Amino acid sequence: MLVFSVETSCDETSVCIMKEDKTILSHIVYSQAIHTKHGGVVPELASRAHLEILQQITKEALKESGVKLNEINLFSATCGPGLIGGLLIGSTFAKSLSIGNNKPFIPINHLEAHALSSFYNNEIKFPHLSLLITGGHTQIYFLENYNKIILIGETIDDAIGEAFDKVAKMLGLSYPGGPEIEKKALEGNENSFKLPQPLINEDNFNFSFSGLKTSVNLIAKKNIIDENFIRNMSASFQKCVGAILTLKLNTVITKLYKNNTKNLSVSVVGGVANNDYLKKCFKNLEKKENIEFIYPPKYMMNDNAAMIAWATILKYKNNHDLNFKPNPRLTI
Ligand code: KG4
Ligand code: ZN
Repeated sequence: MLVFSVETSCDETSVCIMKEDKTILSHIVYSQAIHTKHGGVVPELASRAHLEILQQITKEALKESGVKLNEINLFSATCGPGLIGGLLIGSTFAKSLSIGNNKPFIPINHLEAHALSSFYNNEIKFPHLSLLITGGHTQIYFLENYNKIILIGETIDDAIGEAFDKVAKMLGLSYPGGPEIEKKALEGNENSFKLPQPLINEDNFNFSFSGLKTSVNLIAKKNIIDENFIRNMSASFQKCVGAILTLKLNTVITKLYKNNTKNLSVSVVGGVANNDYLKKCFKNLEKKENIEFIYPPKYMMNDNAAMIAWATILKYKNNHDLNFKPNPRLTI
């Protein structure tokens, strides 16, 4: 069985051709550079860029894989959440190919695809915890099985990646800000600024990052934003984010597992999971709490169609409900 999948929910235009045994025959990710100068994703520009490039990368993927369109057995696309323009373009494109080739179309939930991405390269036992950290979401999922993924905590305001991007913008760094902050932080002193850790003592599994962002803004206004300040603030911000994530995960483990963490693994997924400093923070928690932190392959961290193809195969094999429409606010 061959799957052809499309991802267009934000600013990556991506297609993947995957075999049922999860071999990737072709995977193309086109990151739209047009947003860099705007310091964030401009939805209208993203839609236009998806439309311009999708057909071209589809042709490239077919050429690279040596597969003909009429040999594909299943077509799928991200149908939410995300920017509605991109969702409509990607899903209509994949749906049209499925109709033209008389094959089924499977709609995929972008968050579910992120949450399941670490199952691609790890043998994971249920129940499992997944920390999803992206530009649009910051969530903790409890996975009972492939079909039962329960949201147990999330940000009540900004997503973590959004906070990275906005702080980067305040510091005059380019978009996407996460990798820029990580680089600058390497040269900075993480104890330079004491930043707030909202909700950290609350008796729930939720996050809040907007106060942290405001605090950085207030400090930035009182200082000269030179290279030294940028490095020190990047390091202090990153340290604060690492503390928030690990403290919350600690709360989850204590409350949900009563510290009985035998066989517990936690996957960290989404674009922010690229961050090596945060990985070090999780490593410390791993040693302290006797849990295992796992990650998807690097190419499945940022938005990509390989995770959509992989979720398609899992859904198909696990008899998921395959009916829904594009929805910018889709939840699991
Ligand atoms: O998963 P993703 O590609 O798209 C969404 O679904 O949102 O995540 C993009 C986010 C951006 O906010 C970007 O700044 C952040 O991931 N990001 C990082 C790093 N690499 C990407 N954040 C922190 N450190 C990184 N190394
Ligand atoms: Zn994503």
